[in-house]
Amino acid sequence: MSKAWGGRFSQATDPRVERFTESISFDARLAAVDIRGSQAHARMLAQVGLITASEAEQLCRALDEIAGEIGRGELPFDTALEDIHMHVETALIARLGDVGRKLHTGRSRNDQVATDLKLYVRDAIDLLDGLLHDLQVAFVERSTDDLDVILPGYTHLQRAQPVMAPHYWLCYCEKLARDRERLADCRRRVNVSPLGAAALAGTSLPIDRFLTAELLGFSHPAANSLDVSSDRDFLIEFCSALAQIAAHLATWAEEWILWCTTEFGFLKLPDAYTTGSSIMPQKRNPDVLELIRGKAARVLTSPARLLTLVKGLPLAYNRDLQEDKLAVFDALDTTVACLELAPAVVLGATLQRERIAARLEEGFLDATVLMEYLIGRGVPMRTGHETVGKLVRLCETRGCRLGDLSLSELQTACPAIEAGVAGVLGVANAVRALTSFGSGGAGAVRQQLDQWRQRLNLAPLA
Ligand code: ARG
Repeated sequence: MSKAWGGRFSQATDPRVERFTESISFDARLAAVDIRGSQAHARMLAQVGLITASEAEQLCRALDEIAGEIGRGELPFDTALEDIHMHVETALIARLGDVGRKLHTGRSRNDQVATDLKLYVRDAIDLLDGLLHDLQVAFVERSTDDLDVILPGYTHLQRAQPVMAPHYWLCYCEKLARDRERLADCRRRVNVSPLGAAALAGTSLPIDRFLTAELLGFSHPAANSLDVSSDRDFLIEFCSALAQIAAHLATWAEEWILWCTTEFGFLKLPDAYTTGSSIMPQKRNPDVLELIRGKAARVLTSPARLLTLVKGLPLAYNRDLQEDKLAVFDALDTTVACLELAPAVVLGATLQRERIAARLEEGFLDATVLMEYLIGRGVPMRTGHETVGKLVRLCETRGCRLGDLSLSELQTACPAIEAGVAGVLGVANAVRALTSFGSGGAGAVRQQLDQWRQRLNLAPLA
């Protein structure tokens, strides 16, 4: 088979080199965006008079047919044709002859592959935004069911202060909202057209890059052809946004894995989202959550992989850049797979309400609110901290709770304490006392939940 670039070569390519340099095995998925880009390019070529309107028509129609063939798996891929761009162009020339040979006018594979990637990433961002939205909805719906459940809050994985269960769920909504913002921000920089930068220097032909940018829904054409030919910032940025999503999902997965242990006993996953052991009959393993945590490794390393790829590359295009797709597609596919499963896990899990409640009074979750009660009665914060610390120590030696101490014992420790102290002792009282904006108390959490339902266009709660 003669190569598109065969003119100046007298020897055929070594088949091992063909196998080594091919990218069709992983860039075939760019076919649809490649064809979209080519159709815009053909329309522009006709508009500026480089081809006729009827030639543009033939090109666009044939490209549609080729898209159908590839979609149905009817176009055979061949490593001799290197990549998706050459496959499409070769199929076009096979159909249209000389008209097909005109498509690549005023363009190179360098701006073409950048255009394809930008179109592909732009679609991926829109898909991810929807998946993140769906996961937020799952957490918000869960919140509505768990409005009356109190959970221990932790720092250093030690019991700290109580919060209403939806405070945990809405915490993830916040994180996912920032993930969506990061993607939206990334999208603005993705949405600049590389097409027509040609190989690296632009072209002497009278192309209209503003027109192709417009036809493809880009905000404007990129201003510097050298930059287009070498730029993979948008992929690094995109993968960084994916990495942040994966890190959030891994945190959630890890937390729920812990909560599913006998030791915590907070959560039960539905059978459909757990698996058994081949030897231990009693096991129900949280494999989906473990793999969400584990697969994050692929996503988290993708920015480093891309940065390593571009670091120190001379301008402009270098073949190294072909490797970018492997990192991006793996990170994208992994993130999408995790996000597709996550909402069902969020909605399907059940809180073990009784087990949680039975041990809620352990760990002095009310100690901080007791200290704040003292502050409210004029005790300096540091003094109150020390006083409550001593009371906790007393309880520990006795094996009791703060609420079990008598009023006179409390008053001996601090004369400012009055009978009303009973209103802040015990976990239910302690969580009720939390009223600041954004806190884990029932009122503040309900306010956040109402806001989230509004933000996500869900019906308001009664
Ligand atoms: N398959 C190539 C890639 O993914 C397309 C660009 C090839 N350009 C070139 N000058 N060989 O990067």
